[in-house]
Amino acid sequence: MSVDVTTKFTGITFPNPFLLSSAPPTESETNILRAFEAGWGGVVTKTIGLHPVVNVYGAKAKFMRTSPDTAVVSMKKRPDAALHSSWNWELISDKTLDWWEPRIRRITDAFPDRVLIASIMAGSGNDKELGHWQTLAKACQNAGADGLELNFSCPHMDRKDMGSNIGKDQGLCSVVTEAVKEVAKVPVWCKLTPATADIVIEAAACFRGGADAIVSSNTFPSLPLIDPETLDFEINVDGFVSSGGLGGPAILPMALAKMAQLTKAFPEKSFSGIGGISDMSQALSYFLLGCGTVQVCTAAMLDHAIGPNIIKRLDQQYRDFLEKHEAEGWSSLEDFRGARRDRVVLQSEIRRPDASEYHAGYDAVEGYATPV
Ligand SMILES: Cc1cc2nc3c(=O)[nH]c(=O)nc-3n(C[C@H](O)[C@H](O)[C@H](O)COP(=O)(O)O)c2cc1C
Repeated sequence: MSVDVTTKFTGITFPNPFLLSSAPPTESETNILRAFEAGWGGVVTKTIGLHPVVNVYGAKAKFMRTSPDTAVVSMKKRPDAALHSSWNWELISDKTLDWWEPRIRRITDAFPDRVLIASIMAGSGNDKELGHWQTLAKACQNAGADGLELNFSCPHMDRKDMGSNIGKDQGLCSVVTEAVKEVAKVPVWCKLTPATADIVIEAAACFRGGADAIVSSNTFPSLPLIDPETLDFEINVDGFVSSGGLGGPAILPMALAKMAQLTKAFPEKSFSGIGGISDMSQALSYFLLGCGTVQVCTAAMLDHAIGPNIIKRLDQQYRDFLEKHEAEGWSSLEDFRGARRDRVVLQSEIRRPDASEYHAGYDAVEGYATPV
């Protein structure tokens, strides 16, 4: 038996299950071509919209690091500090749809065996905005995109009908997905915000609208730290800051918890995992929870902007993993996808030294069965 690193996800064949997520690594034609040359199985383009985009002055993203000897987290570069997270307040692509269309065509012509998913975003407050989603969807698929990712997750939109504000409203999740599905000839993925109480509710709404997959997580809402010397936020413009998004290693366990909620609620549906991935050990957690692909941003940004070494390592570690588990019959992702999904259970189902007095947080009522 030989290992098979290709995988099928939402009907699309991927040469490997590793994608660059929608972010700076996929903001240009040059970057995406370099990414494919380096070996990434697919890319999700930087989110494309129709409204004007103007970013803040100065840095749009920075990286926080922590020291081995103290728990200090700071954007200041120090020797021996390890990566903690990325922090960004970057908006979606500042390039127009007209700019993107010929580029998507050229990229997909040059790499027909790789997968290009177009990330798109519009408002949702009225029919005109729903029409914008359809315009974007049709333009991208006509240009050659293999699929569409609907951005319901950008954490820094003031508009109440855009970005993560859609992902926080199950009605809007359904309506927008349905509008896109009306015109889509390619698979439609919905990228949800992790900033809700129960992501299963919004995922269910997307599936009701016809979504082919759910993607999670985008960055988590967060602020940079205040410098104890200057008393200014470590990233600011004129002393001011607004809520931005946290990515990278710090969000891995939180993103996994969101993913476990999703894959347990919908074991038959398709999920693409994102958050804190830089090698196979993290990707594996997502696969074992049930994801059919995974996506990478922060780690790729820090590796020559598109992650040539990250994908080389992922590819090698993935092959090594499959070879190691060949005897168990695991020769491709489908053989082990979701194999640890059922290990996430209720607190009351976890073994304890003495279970007789534990009633899942409830008081035992005399004469009745234990309330679970
Ligand atoms: C600078 C920056 C810009 C981003 N822009 C987008 C975007 O335009 N659309 C989107 O869906 N996600 C965007 N993201 C989120 C990433 O795609 C990804 O979901 C997130 O960073 C978590 O993955 P990571 O832990 O590998 O960084 C951006 C992230 C960063 C750091």
